[in-house]
Amino acid sequence: MDKIVVEGGARLTGVIPISGAKNAALPLLAAALLPTGASTFKNVPQLADVRTMAKLLGMLGWQVEGERTELTIAPPAKSRLKLEAPYELVKTMRASVLVLGPLVARYGRGRVSLPGGCAIGARPIDQHLKGLQAMGAKVTLDHGYVDVEAKRLRGATIVLDMPTVTGCENLMMAAALAKGRTVIENAAREPEVSDLARCLLAMGAKISGHGTDAITIEGVDALFGVEHAVVLLGGARPEHLDAVIAKLRAAGVQVAAEAGGLRVRGSGEIAAVDIVTQPHPGFPTDMQAQFMVLACLARGQSVIKEMIFENRFMHVPELVRMGADIQIDGRVAMVRGGARLNGAQVMATDLRASASLILAGLVASGRTDVLRVYHLDRGYEAIEKKLRAVGAKIKRVKQ
Ligand code: EPU
Repeated sequence: MDKIVVEGGARLTGVIPISGAKNAALPLLAAALLPTGASTFKNVPQLADVRTMAKLLGMLGWQVEGERTELTIAPPAKSRLKLEAPYELVKTMRASVLVLGPLVARYGRGRVSLPGGCAIGARPIDQHLKGLQAMGAKVTLDHGYVDVEAKRLRGATIVLDMPTVTGCENLMMAAALAKGRTVIENAAREPEVSDLARCLLAMGAKISGHGTDAITIEGVDALFGVEHAVVLLGGARPEHLDAVIAKLRAAGVQVAAEAGGLRVRGSGEIAAVDIVTQPHPGFPTDMQAQFMVLACLARGQSVIKEMIFENRFMHVPELVRMGADIQIDGRVAMVRGGARLNGAQVMATDLRASASLILAGLVASGRTDVLRVYHLDRGYEAIEKKLRAVGAKIKRVKQ
């Protein structure tokens, strides 16, 4: 298994290209199940999760072709069509559940292994199922699988208990081919939900209100293949990062939006900042672990509260092994800043935790070995190359 080796202390300067976002790419690829013809996606990040989604679409019978950042996905001949996402794939990537809405809407049935718990929390899919049921689907659970059937889904008003991101995406895709109007209330407002809506609109769907907490979808009878580029997060779109930029500025980091990107300058002294993770446009849970490293370097005490996932502090014991002073009490981590981090062998436990350990390695004295790097490869394209290009001493070592 590969590991990443970082020598801390190097000063970083230069330009870091931003790849297409993983959480935008995955639902877009699932949306390729909806149209009658083939779709082509550009700016697709080269990530393990994207390969898993491509494999899943292949198992369902779709033809997935392309290289590097462009993928073309074509529907199968009837004889090759399969409507089941097996446990082997779903257990490695929960986002596999995104095929459920499209399969039921287009083919009348979908069967997906229940994802079960994962490292960062229980993460049920009850809201996805509640929405499909409201649209008239019959939902059965058997042998660890959820089986959803509907001859033709009907539009419905669905009030989500929480603004679930993949839940909203699944229901939006399902509603695109339902009969009549669907309204999703308490909808997720993340930029990737809007990107999916834009792709569905290009396919011929009728959607309005994406980016707000009420999305309206008028079902249509058929959708058509498109060409769509995965949204660029960060670089070109600072408005997606408002909450993160505000906290960076509060910490004393200079952030300026420039044409096509963001310029970030560290000014030396870092102030403590408190963070509460929230659905978009609040501070994203996917940046919490990385921000904690900044808090470790700050002057004073930061309070970091994780409100989305109940078990997303697994980077903390590893940061503590590197010399950080952090205490956890339930959903709250108290970070006493000013720590001098020392390089160590550390274990990545999930995707964002891996990124935070690499950041810690960059500022620690001496060498840090980040093990279990497969988590990182699920969501960060060639991170070691990007960081090396701006001066980091970092390499991947095959073991
Ligand atoms: N929830 C339920 N029932 C549901 C759905 C969600 O109780 O039916 C709960 C979850 O357990 C969680 C909260 O609602 O406590 C929010 O979860 P959400 O459904 O929004 O998360 P997700 O759709 O499973 C996506 C991203 C995550 C990201 C979260 C939050 C994808 C493929 N995944 O997950 O990304 O953290 O939204 O923004 O889009 C990552 O990239 O590292 C990652 C984990």
